[in-house]
Amino acid sequence: MPLLTELSYKESFFREMKKSGFEKQIKLNEPLKNHTSYRIGGPVDFYYVPENIDELKRIFSVAVKMKIPYKFIGNGTNLLIRDKGLKGIVMQLGKGFKNITQSGRILKAGAGVSLPSISQYAFKQNLSGLEFSINIPGTLGGAIINNASFRGNSISDIIRNITILTPENRIIKITKNNLKFRYRSCEFGVEKFIITKVELELAHGKKENIISKMEKNKKFRLNKQPVNGYNAGSIFKNPAGFSAGALIDKAGAKGLRKGNAEVSNVHANFIINRGNASANDILHLIREIEKRIEEKYRIHLEREIEIIGIE
Ligand code: EPU
Repeated sequence: MPLLTELSYKESFFREMKKSGFEKQIKLNEPLKNHTSYRIGGPVDFYYVPENIDELKRIFSVAVKMKIPYKFIGNGTNLLIRDKGLKGIVMQLGKGFKNITQSGRILKAGAGVSLPSISQYAFKQNLSGLEFSINIPGTLGGAIINNASFRGNSISDIIRNITILTPENRIIKITKNNLKFRYRSCEFGVEKFIITKVELELAHGKKENIISKMEKNKKFRLNKQPVNGYNAGSIFKNPAGFSAGALIDKAGAKGLRKGNAEVSNVHANFIINRGNASANDILHLIREIEKRIEEKYRIHLEREIEIIGIE
């Protein structure tokens, strides 16, 4: 493809979108802070919510064909987008990816369903296994990519299979034994894709037991994790044998501030946006923590949140 100027790349993509009748739904220069749990993030050239698989296939293949950088962002809950925003297109799965159906102990759901809503759904059907996810604000698709977990239970315990769409427009079903789940990650054997559907296998349970587990999890979260201010969950993964939160706490970083960003006084592995913090403020604190932990413990903390955008 010939090298296009900034303007012509945007124009050509928009023209292509028009051909497909998508020009009304596509948003230009959309501030991504509107779509992240951090309420932080600069603008992206194009923002689109595909409402169904046909729309997704079309827009995905056009973006790939035209070499437009693309990014799917789930609920934007484990994500820090830099202040200058992103080039290309950001997509979030729409209505057609938020349905749930049940067949016995199996739940089939769109990848855009949020964990609390599928957790509630399972409860109503007397199905156990999703109680751990009642507090986790991400989507099912995102939960699989990060192998979301809470108090000893993780999404990998209950996955049956997932369906993905590749940039070549192939739809592939991957069964659990072909997914390599690890602590906070999963290998799929495919590099570029979007998860579109998920099948979970749950256990029959009693309503009172399910609700009691959910209540315990809610209480744990209220007591041990910050609920005021915007955040993106844990900033760092736990290094083997250690708790990142405990290390950061012992390094005296709780309460550190930069602008409106603050290392949480409740749990040191959370950095809170207290209002209008910038991505730079958050990044400043992240680097400060990394430096302190490196110096004090000779431990390199691995970031759990994804950090993207123009530097
Ligand atoms: N601790 C401190 N100071 C702190 C925070 C924690 O001393 O500021 C101590 C706690 O007292 C406890 C230990 O560190 O003894 C572990 O803390 P916690 O039980 O809160 O668990 P965690 O390892 O910090 C992990 C997950 C959380 C998940 C909880 C509960 C990671 C990086 N984090 O936290 O996940 O909710 O367990 O299962 O694995 C997330 O991924 O966004 C997230 C919040």
